[in-house]
Amino acid sequence: MRMYDIIDKKKRAASLTDDEINFAVDGFVGGKIPDYQMSALLMAIWFNGLDKRELTTLTTAMAHSGDMIDLSAIDGLKVDKHSTGGVGDKTTLIVAPIVAACGGKVAKMSGRGLGHTGGTVDKLESIPGYRTELTRQEFFDTVNNCGLSLIGQSGNLAPADKKLYALRDVTATVDSLPLIASSIMSKKLAAGSDCILLDVKTGSGAFMKTLDDAIALAETMVAIGEGAGRRTVALITDMDTPLGYGIGNSIEVAESMDVLKGRGAHDLTAVSIELAANMLYLVGKGTLDDCRKLVEKSIADGSAFETFCKMVKAQGGDDSVLRDYDNFDKAPFSREIFADGDGFVAKMNAELLGKVSVMLGAGRETKDSPIDFSAGIVLRKKFGDEVHAGDSLATLYASNEKLFVAAEENFRAAIELGDKPETRPLIFARVEAGHVERF
Ligand code: URA
Repeated sequence: MRMYDIIDKKKRAASLTDDEINFAVDGFVGGKIPDYQMSALLMAIWFNGLDKRELTTLTTAMAHSGDMIDLSAIDGLKVDKHSTGGVGDKTTLIVAPIVAACGGKVAKMSGRGLGHTGGTVDKLESIPGYRTELTRQEFFDTVNNCGLSLIGQSGNLAPADKKLYALRDVTATVDSLPLIASSIMSKKLAAGSDCILLDVKTGSGAFMKTLDDAIALAETMVAIGEGAGRRTVALITDMDTPLGYGIGNSIEVAESMDVLKGRGAHDLTAVSIELAANMLYLVGKGTLDDCRKLVEKSIADGSAFETFCKMVKAQGGDDSVLRDYDNFDKAPFSREIFADGDGFVAKMNAELLGKVSVMLGAGRETKDSPIDFSAGIVLRKKFGDEVHAGDSLATLYASNEKLFVAAEENFRAAIELGDKPETRPLIFARVEAGHVERF
């Protein structure tokens, strides 16, 4: 078998055999197939797509390229959650302890921030002492004792995806539905949970800018999950504006704790309740309505918050910062951004706001740059809010005052004042195997 012939076949939009797909993935991971040939195949897939069987074979080959994690040492059904990436998307910190407090098990490996989107692992590391690297046994013990554990992705989880993603990033082949679906689902299948809830974002801050594309991606990923024997549901949620008011690591941890304490931002709370209810539904805790009630109760009685604190302590973290946010290290500098006119917030470019938070130090400019956990943005106005000249639009936080110049300029470019905009739904659709419900 020759890689040349496989590339040529896909270039002509023919279907690849299972053997050909496995040959390409194994050869690439093993270093026998060079980047330039794999790049050509990725571009051929970008143009000509993959059919259902090819996609299943590719995803399975990618999942099996590294460790397939066996979670059977954890009692009960395990449920995982994946967001396709967003700005201010801190829902994992909220839904995982809620699900655990309601009797579900969450053994979750999360990623770091990349580009304009934040990552759960960076947010967790803003909690002093918190360990995102545990041994396999410590990970299992924490889930068995606390109902959840949130850790970083092990180095050998779907290495094919790691290598392919790096290549896609530099060959303009990231925005391909089959390549995104296989990338995400290979990691989810390898991570071992019985059930998977996918949060597929749509809007200006998301990979999938339109609702139809987001639904198509969700349907494809749900079919892959179910085909591999995992109960899988997807919600399509809005990422046209950031979720909640905070963007930045410790800022987002504090805002998440506010939701768990029952005093969270409306949009963040509403999306989190729906995500958590769907996770509980997947592990058999009743109808969606029953599950929503369980979620609300766990917030009202404080059990979700206490569950999170218990996990943080079990992983070496200082939970005093969660009880009193003043215990977090504070950014030494802040700048208030005031409105220079009247109107309504008619547009908020989520992607650009994510970039502003990176400029302030909250994210990485390159893979290995250090992170300033205290840096970021607290929005004072959100999409649809009325604004008068002189009102504060946001507070920026940084450890270096010079960063405010470019950050303020870009912040202003991200916000448009105008006529009162039409409200956008927070949740557009729900996708279960063979069924799409639009709201
Ligand atoms: N997230 C992933 O893990 N992979 C993609 O291809 C896109 C988003």
